[in-house]
Amino acid sequence: MVKGENLPFLLLWVALIPVIILIFLPCTLQLQSSQAQALLRVQRLLGFPAVLSSWNNWTDFCNTPPASSLSVVCYEESITQLHIVGSKGSPPVKLKRTQNFTASDYELLPTFSIDSFLTTLTGLPNLKVLSLVSLGLWGQLPPKIARLYSLEILNVSSNFFYGRIPQEISLLRNLQTLILDDNLFTGSVPDWFSALPVLTVLSLRNNSFSGSLPSSLKTMESLRVLVLSTNQLYGEVPDISSLTNLQILDLENNNLGPQFPILGNKIVKLVLRKNRFSSNIPSEIASCFQLKKLDLSFNRFLGPLSLSLFSLPAIEYLDLGGNKLTGMLSENISCNNGLQFVDISSNLLTGTLPHCLEPNSRGKVVRYAGNCLVNDTQYQHPYLFCKNEALAVGVLPRNGKKKESEKVIFLIGILGVTGGMVVLGLFIWVFIRRSRSRKPIKRSSRRLVIGNALARLPSKVLADARYISQTMSLSALGLPPYRNFSLEELEEATDNFHTSTFMGEGSHDQMYKGILSDGSVVAIRCLKLKQKYSPQTFLPHIELISKIRHRHLVSVLGHCIECYLDDSTVSRLLLIFEYVPYGTLRANVCERMGGEPLSWTQRLAAAIGVARGIEFLHTGVVPGLFDNDLKITNILLDQNHVAKISSYNLPVLANNMKSELGAQGPGSGRKEFDISKREKRRDAADVYNFGIILLEVIMGRAIEAQSEVDTLRDQLQQCVIENQECRRSVADPWITDECVDESLRTAMAIAVRCLCKEHEDRPSIEDVLWNLQFAAQVQDASSQGSDGSPNNTSD
Ligand SMILES: *[C@@H]1O[C@H](CO)[C@@H](O)[C@H](O)[C@H]1NC(C)=O
Ligand SMILES: *[C@@H]1O[C@H](CO)[C@@H](O)[C@H](O)[C@H]1NC(C)=O
Repeated sequence: MVKGENLPFLLLWVALIPVIILIFLPCTLQLQSSQAQALLRVQRLLGFPAVLSSWNNWTDFCNTPPASSLSVVCYEESITQLHIVGSKGSPPVKLKRTQNFTASDYELLPTFSIDSFLTTLTGLPNLKVLSLVSLGLWGQLPPKIARLYSLEILNVSSNFFYGRIPQEISLLRNLQTLILDDNLFTGSVPDWFSALPVLTVLSLRNNSFSGSLPSSLKTMESLRVLVLSTNQLYGEVPDISSLTNLQILDLENNNLGPQFPILGNKIVKLVLRKNRFSSNIPSEIASCFQLKKLDLSFNRFLGPLSLSLFSLPAIEYLDLGGNKLTGMLSENISCNNGLQFVDISSNLLTGTLPHCLEPNSRGKVVRYAGNCLVNDTQYQHPYLFCKNEALAVGVLPRNGKKKESEKVIFLIGILGVTGGMVVLGLFIWVFIRRSRSRKPIKRSSRRLVIGNALARLPSKVLADARYISQTMSLSALGLPPYRNFSLEELEEATDNFHTSTFMGEGSHDQMYKGILSDGSVVAIRCLKLKQKYSPQTFLPHIELISKIRHRHLVSVLGHCIECYLDDSTVSRLLLIFEYVPYGTLRANVCERMGGEPLSWTQRLAAAIGVARGIEFLHTGVVPGLFDNDLKITNILLDQNHVAKISSYNLPVLANNMKSELGAQGPGSGRKEFDISKREKRRDAADVYNFGIILLEVIMGRAIEAQSEVDTLRDQLQQCVIENQECRRSVADPWITDECVDESLRTAMAIAVRCLCKEHEDRPSIEDVLWNLQFAAQVQDASSQGSDGSPNNTSD
């Protein structure tokens, strides 16, 4: 139409096209095509994850708005930053520990090759920041990672990398931040990290690093953040006071200790939670003016609590719970205003909660239960508890000679003839498991040097041994078969033998309460051995122990033997008992806290149970177990009020103590059993102690002194002969309405006989049992006759 006029414009437009293209080109197509290709290849190697679904041949990588899960940053013609956060997650810790997770649920396809993947990434040579999180990446991190020589920040959290960290990472001279959290890395924390000149943030949280911390740590002067939590590190923390820039140190959930780390005073956040620190808290901590968060909980810190911690100028979060800190708090202690969270619970503190820690309107959280304070809005122990515990803490011997690091666990295989079969079975199992697993993940175990094969076996295998060994099974009692436990299993069950699981201690042992991974509750008795024994010494004992199972004994479920590394002698023997939940017989008879005391019928049933337990100890095992040092506080009741003897003369105990006490057995503590003079009836000591128990059961009050026993016995003897009034006056008033006089008299008479001075005058345990059963029958007949209420005495 009007082409004559428009032609110049058209020409102008045509001439402008390249200009326009040139103007827009730098914004749209600046990325080198090789780098775009590399990204597309990354997408393919990752199995086209949802997060990358927008990528295709036409994507303008450098100009896509960044999202939290995906961003690409370019500079000039190169990609400098790449963040990809997938949704594969990381293996749950529990599963990871037992290696039972099916990796394929979480990982990329088996065809994934971390090597090709890294080769592809080297096509992005200017990459400074690389985050590849939760993508299911697996394999050993290849040395060629060093080809990404510009890297400043590397974050590969929540993947399945395993094996050691390649030393080639030390060639990344610009690396400032290295984050390998939530993977399966093993090996020790490399000492070559110190070769990275500008490393500022190092985070290895939740892997399986083991061993002790390298001393080269102290030369990493640029370090600001060091996170090593949830690994299997042990031993002392090297002196890192030279790290003057260090602000965050997080060592939570390892086995480090026992000494408090030596730190610079610039620290802002210090987390030592759940380790094995058992020193005092040094006073220098008061000079950490920038300290905002201090978490020392669940260790064994002891000594007086330094009150200056509350008033540190920057402190906001203070967790000291679950230690053994002592000292007296008072109202006038001052606190920093910024304190938001304070936990001093489960320590041994006395006195009054400071005013400044009382609840205020600003939502401050203060936990102080489980001390001996006078404030009782949160549960407190009686004052004496803290006093006694504090004394116990004071004299607890620190076994200086042997270090934790020198120890090694090893488990003794199942005993006797079945041993060989079981071991064979185990090896077959291991073999099958190995050949089935596509990618055996190598994990090292911290105290495991000898006995490797056995110690690594999951306890399940040992439990499965019951199909081989019938002798181990005693299902009649409803107990699981006797088995070996691994130390790791026990540590997990007791939170590393944490104080909150502590149940009590004797002169040679400590008792802890544990919850196994299947949810069952157990009591774990730890015996420190003073003498050197080889594990083999214990085999006969353990065989015997495995047979001591009875309705009226707290039965042993299994054992674990921990050895020293240097000479492989036994350092500690752990015996795992069934947990009996209902408290001691004394608590159920004498202490009227929580619930009513037992009725007379129930008391007789309990006494009969104890007598049956004693009878079993004397005659049910060969050789019999005598001198069991029976005490009412060692008789426990289960939920059905079935009495069980919790502490008896286990052969191992006897062995352990003989070395210290000479020829004396453990039960011969009471002076009056002078066995040297005349021939001793072997069961007499237990019968005497049973008499004391019966005395408490009848009178309903605690008897502590020997002199008291003598007086009460005489009193009882008098009343047995005299009238009903007398008997009622000495018996526990709680039972006198219920009990039939004949029943009470029989019980009193047998108690008196048990407490005879001369051994030969005491009744046999069978005699005791017969009399008590008679007392129970009389009582039973009468109560059925009178009100017909069925009393549950069946025993
Ligand atoms: C690593 O990257 C993920 C995803 O961006 C992030 O959530 C995490 O905080 C990073 N780790 C550290 C220690 O910064
Ligand atoms: C606390 O302060 C009050 C008032 O200043 C004082 O009377 C009291 O004696 C102080 N108590 C302690 C234990 O120092």
